[in-house]
Amino acid sequence: MTGGADGTPAGVTIDVALRVEDVVPATVEGRTVLVIDVLRASTTMVAALGNGCAAIVPVGEPDEALRRAAALGDGTLVGGERRGDPLPGFDLGNSPLEYTAERVARRPVIFTTSNGTRALLAARGAAAIGVAGFVNLSAAAAWAAGQGRDVAVLCAGELGRDALEDSACAGLLVDRLVARLPGATVTPAAAAASLARPYAADVGRLATDARHARRLVAAGRGGDVAACLTVDSSTVVPVYLPSVDKVVAAPR
Ligand code: MLT
Repeated sequence: MTGGADGTPAGVTIDVALRVEDVVPATVEGRTVLVIDVLRASTTMVAALGNGCAAIVPVGEPDEALRRAAALGDGTLVGGERRGDPLPGFDLGNSPLEYTAERVARRPVIFTTSNGTRALLAARGAAAIGVAGFVNLSAAAAWAAGQGRDVAVLCAGELGRDALEDSACAGLLVDRLVARLPGATVTPAAAAASLARPYAADVGRLATDARHARRLVAAGRGGDVAACLTVDSSTVVPVYLPSVDKVVAAPR
């Protein structure tokens, strides 16, 4: 592929999908995909891998998670949520604050959440798949830009609806990607997401503006919301490798 004068690979496109339900094969095939579920699956995966978790195995359903953990045996943890709450028989919920080195270092985690793991699984046909949130915004953009192909930002959304925190994060990611790939073509969907720029100056406002954030705060999970709405606190980029069915940290 011949590069442009600015170093951007020729013809690179940056696209955004706001809900996992919008994914068709062409959304992901041949592309680098960045999956976003700010509240809270993306942030939890960044925290887990940052604290030395051996690998995260994303699965669709809680009973499958328990089966997989039993098959893998000793040392395997099961984490995730439904309706935001930890699940019976699980070791961990979906709070990034739970995934400390004491709990997860050197241990694999089988992980299932309402939207985040669904979005990861929907991206399986992509050429490369990373996980992004506010916490690793710059690192995720650098990783995706370095892959040298079209980039699709895939927001998990919330049970079929757009999620404001995900679309705001997608907008900021588009801005960072454009800064690294100045010759790239930005699709209308990506340009629309980058209109979320008002949040660039104050991501914390999403704690009151975003529906799911308000719900988590009301449920006593304000600490999670604050952790998820922190920009660039980590340089870990979780990378999903469908061929081995694992999410691991990208080499740095
Ligand atoms: C999800 O995957 O839908 C979320 O991470 C939900 C949550 O906040 O636990």
